[in-house]
Amino acid sequence: MTEVLLRLTTRPVPYPKEVHDRLEVEAKSIIDCYPQPRSALLPLLHLVQSVEGYVSGTGIGFCAEQLGLTEAEVTAVSTFYSMYRRTPTGDYHVGVCTNTLCAVMGGDEIFAELKRHLGIQHGETTTDGAVTLEHIECNAACDYAPVVMVNWEFFDNQTPESARALVDALRRGEQVTAARSGAPLCTFRETARLLAGFPDERPGANDGEPGAATLAGLRSARDADESGGAQ
Ligand code: FES
Repeated sequence: MTEVLLRLTTRPVPYPKEVHDRLEVEAKSIIDCYPQPRSALLPLLHLVQSVEGYVSGTGIGFCAEQLGLTEAEVTAVSTFYSMYRRTPTGDYHVGVCTNTLCAVMGGDEIFAELKRHLGIQHGETTTDGAVTLEHIECNAACDYAPVVMVNWEFFDNQTPESARALVDALRRGEQVTAARSGAPLCTFRETARLLAGFPDERPGANDGEPGAATLAGLRSARDADESGGAQ
């Protein structure tokens, strides 16, 4: 509580000049993609999240300054979406889906096991700074329940054992590739840059394939369409 109050009452420290100047150039390249500057707020929040690993007061001030918004307006948006974090984040944000389907398929057990194994609670980070653990809401991958997401990339059909092996590999610094991606995971800050709209230059980044469960759903929808909706 004290830490939260301090963050709310202390004036943010401005970015160092070289960081501010670089961000200003990058922010302009993003803003130029939109007819109205304020429409660029979501990617700009990812951009500032890529600097410190979370949306700090400094980042909020920067977005407000670039877009002609008030800090209250930027704060309102950044606190609405759960992809913007308000506290420092580890290299890997591990989200365990505990929404209805994943929960009944084992998501609750996975989350409980990772809390026990890592010795942290929801929203906390391991002392080595590698993993931040959260339970997350449905990310529309219910056909692969229960799912775990690392830096918003999917790991399908998880079990407590496979999720434990996953976080151990991340903490050992091993290269890990998500279930339906062709590229190795990058860090949370690097992911934030990609979400801001900068090119994904990881080898294999465009080689991902939809999984069998997704294709089965697509086939079923096509069959229903061809038969005029009759089942
Ligand atoms: S309930 Fe977990 S992805 Fe939908």
